[in-house]
Amino acid sequence: MFNELCCEDKTYRNLVGGKWMDSKTNKFIEIHSPIDGSLVGKVPSMSREEVDEVIKNSKEAQKTWRDVPVNKRAEILYKAADILDERAEEIGAVMALEIAKDIKSAVSEVTRTADYIRFTADAAKAMEGEAIPGDSFPGFKRSKISYVNRVPLGVVLAISPFNYPVNLSASKVAPAVVGGNSVLLKPPTQGSISALFLAQVFKAAGLPDGVLNTVTGKGSEIGDYIVKHTDIDFINFTGSTSVGYHISEITAMKPQLLELGGKDAAIVLEDADLEHAADNIVSGAFSYSGQRCTAVKRILVVDSVADKLVELLKDRIVKLKSGDPREEGTVIVPLIDNKAADFVMELVEDALSKGAKRVIGEKRKDNFVEAMLFDNVTLDMRIAWEEPFGPILPVIRIKNIDEAIDIANRSEYGLQSSVFTKDIDKAFYIADKLEVGTVQVNNKTERGPDHFPFLGVKSSGMGTQGIRYSIEAMTRPKAVVLNLNK
Ligand code: NAP
Ligand code: G3H
Repeated sequence: MFNELCCEDKTYRNLVGGKWMDSKTNKFIEIHSPIDGSLVGKVPSMSREEVDEVIKNSKEAQKTWRDVPVNKRAEILYKAADILDERAEEIGAVMALEIAKDIKSAVSEVTRTADYIRFTADAAKAMEGEAIPGDSFPGFKRSKISYVNRVPLGVVLAISPFNYPVNLSASKVAPAVVGGNSVLLKPPTQGSISALFLAQVFKAAGLPDGVLNTVTGKGSEIGDYIVKHTDIDFINFTGSTSVGYHISEITAMKPQLLELGGKDAAIVLEDADLEHAADNIVSGAFSYSGQRCTAVKRILVVDSVADKLVELLKDRIVKLKSGDPREEGTVIVPLIDNKAADFVMELVEDALSKGAKRVIGEKRKDNFVEAMLFDNVTLDMRIAWEEPFGPILPVIRIKNIDEAIDIANRSEYGLQSSVFTKDIDKAFYIADKLEVGTVQVNNKTERGPDHFPFLGVKSSGMGTQGIRYSIEAMTRPKAVVLNLNK
């Protein structure tokens, strides 16, 4: 089924108008595996002229797609979900090689995506319009009624990040298309091959030609041109805060949803179940080597239990398996590239030079960084504030709840936070004060389940994801007002 995508020399194509198109310019980007540098494949580096052609095709396709009944659109999504389940191992293996995600997480990213797509189809069918009688407003009669329905926005540009190339592409594509939009998917360059497999799944499921088109090419080269294109009606972006800010600056008045970086705190109080907190923090901070927007990225622990917590964390971190992501059970994997590892080590060196205590972890080789824990981190250290996107975790000791809230809120980010305590009153007090999209009580920070609202505030984003919320974000109310003659 994936033969059309590629050929013997590993040269991939883009899906345009229902066909896998060869590059017209013959310019390609080589994708090498972060595991061993081997060539995974080559993807076209599309020119502006090619992009124009693709967007024109997306615009045409949307005109017919918008009239397809929701139940028919949903049928295609159900089919796509079934194919993803059938092909999960195959796509997961591609992803493991391309982005060095451990094989278990890679396969479960695919099956989670299948569930996401099915739930999206269910949610779209359950969505209702409304009829609003005019006479509830002073001075109006029952003869005026607003009939309100949701309509698509047009062509949605979906831009996804490297760390979830399948799931964070599909979580834009599925709600957009079920809402009657066509989608132009610009996947992360490192991750684009996995995303092209996803596109093939939608094609095989019967999505009409042009309803999903793909564009590969470096964001730094072609990104500005695409986001500013006048025929793009909505931008759904997930990625770093710096690129998110940039897009928002150059696309004035273009509607958009931005899901950006984070610095999620785990706040641990005196009365917390420390074993439970340690289990959650370690899996929250270190899975996929911390390359998740929702990874636990700092611990704010009350001084009286800090020594105990640090011991429990150390016991768990030492057991994390590192190495080749294709081996079952690996957690600490090579980072996406050397630049990412350089950045992580910059933060480590800054922290050590300012007096942080290294509890565990030291080694870095090329793009591999060992899991590291630092205690006695202070607020003058960069690691207290910056998003490492790597396997390093700072412990900041605090005196009391109010200091925890203050430090948590001083971050430029506001994605999620965790609070570990047995006292529900304290949990609610803290949750109420934290400036984040979601507070997890007695659990690690995480996005799922995927029908929950998922959003960041401050520099963590703009707008809300989550199945129903995403459909709503990519459709708009359209009112037809009936003025009856009575
Ligand atoms: P990134 O460097 O910002 O890239 C994200 C996407 O934007 C990629 O497809 C990239 O393409 C593209 N891009 C780059 N420059 C562009 C431009 N000028 N115009 C349009 N598109 C452009 O982020 P990343 O390194 O892939 O992902 C890691 C970051 O994403 C972290 O900060 C993480 O916290 C954040 N993230 C947030 C969420 C969330 O839901 N809040 C989820 C996942 C990740 P290229 O690959 O070609 O450069
Ligand atoms: O990387 C950002 C993702 O949205 C995080 O999703 O919490 O399921 O890993 P996750």
